[in-house]
Amino acid sequence: MEKFALVTGGMGYIGSHTSVALIEAGYQVVVLDNLDNSSEKVLTGIESITGQTPHFAHTDLRDVDAVLEVFNEYPITSVIHTAGLKSVEESVTNPSKYYENNIGSTITLVKAMQTAGVSTLVFSSSATVYSSSSKPPFDENAKTFPTNPYGMSKYIIEQIMADMALADSKWRLGILRYFNPVGAHPSGKIGESPSGVPNNLMPYLMQVAIGKLEKLPIYGDDYETPDGTCIRDYVHVVDLARGHLAALEFLENKNGVHFWNLGTGKGTSVLELVKEVEKVIEKPIPIEMKQRRKGDIPIVFADVAKASSQLSWQAKYSIEKMCADHWKWQKHYSDSRQ
Ligand code: NAD
Ligand code: UFG
Repeated sequence: MEKFALVTGGMGYIGSHTSVALIEAGYQVVVLDNLDNSSEKVLTGIESITGQTPHFAHTDLRDVDAVLEVFNEYPITSVIHTAGLKSVEESVTNPSKYYENNIGSTITLVKAMQTAGVSTLVFSSSATVYSSSSKPPFDENAKTFPTNPYGMSKYIIEQIMADMALADSKWRLGILRYFNPVGAHPSGKIGESPSGVPNNLMPYLMQVAIGKLEKLPIYGDDYETPDGTCIRDYVHVVDLARGHLAALEFLENKNGVHFWNLGTGKGTSVLELVKEVEKVIEKPIPIEMKQRRKGDIPIVFADVAKASSQLSWQAKYSIEKMCADHWKWQKHYSDSRQ
């Protein structure tokens, strides 16, 4: 039987790379997206990489009837659920928007899946669910305690999924806790396109590198880390995309709910990342030391043993490759906007 995957949020950064990985693995892909934070141009990017254009439903995932129509139209066998809002900052100022969109759309999705008899779902969660009181590396059993509405929306969805699995053993549910996704497809044809001034380090760095922003603010150089700046586990988005495939394969033979960290297991500091980008662009990045950013945890990196043993998944790409591929995309993206 042909494998037919629905990718919610498939026009977005992670969804588009996952769609490419699915198509390359022989899946038929249906992308569902409301284009709230993406553009239809992504379809062209996916097409030029894979030679196939995914089916596209320009639909809001909270629209029950429209979502049911998508399930009626295509013989969907599994769902990758990446659709969601993701700005921590915005979630603090507008929490109801985050709870309504992220949780509301998940409820609509699982109801439609029940109606359509589809029981395999892989969900985009985040390392942000872990408590700052946990000691790195974080394994999947580390204490959870999200500290902002965005993180809380992820945590609540995880709980909903765990309860669904308890209530009905037919569900096959995979929860992927991404660490810090960066990079882009090596073709430079798809990547991350943040709107406005980026909040996250890599897109900010890239906009300084291209000359769109003047200098990089570094939020704190007095942490208890070797160079005083925060340490994160950056993971190449193409590795992450492969992780979704590995989770789908695992779920073919296992029901219940399963949690996996997706990261490299290695930490890189803010200053180390700046140096890596400088090597790629062959010029210095102007920086400015600032006060610590509220809510930042000094050191975050994953224990990736579970994904390695259960999914046979490991991140392959180095930090150099992450920076080089992100830069290639940044240049292409900036050129295409001129
Ligand atoms: P993105 O914004 O690039 O992609 C999300 C996509 O979902 C967008 O195309 C947007 O238009 C769509 N969308 C949002 N709400 C929708 C709705 N109600 N109906 C239909 N489409 C909707 O974000 P991303 O970086 O690709 O992130 C994907 C998922 O991974 C998100 O759920 C995010 O919370 C999670 N995540 C991302 C990161 C990260 O750093 N990028 C880290 C951890 C977890
Ligand atoms: N940073 C700077 N300057 C910037 C941006 C960030 O110094 O302009 C620093 C931050 O202070 C932090 C580090 O770079 O120390 C990484 O910050 P990011 O915002 O890139 O990433 P976070 O680890 O804070 O959070 C991101 C997403 C979350 C997600 C988490 C784990 O924003 O939604 O990764 O996946 F949950």
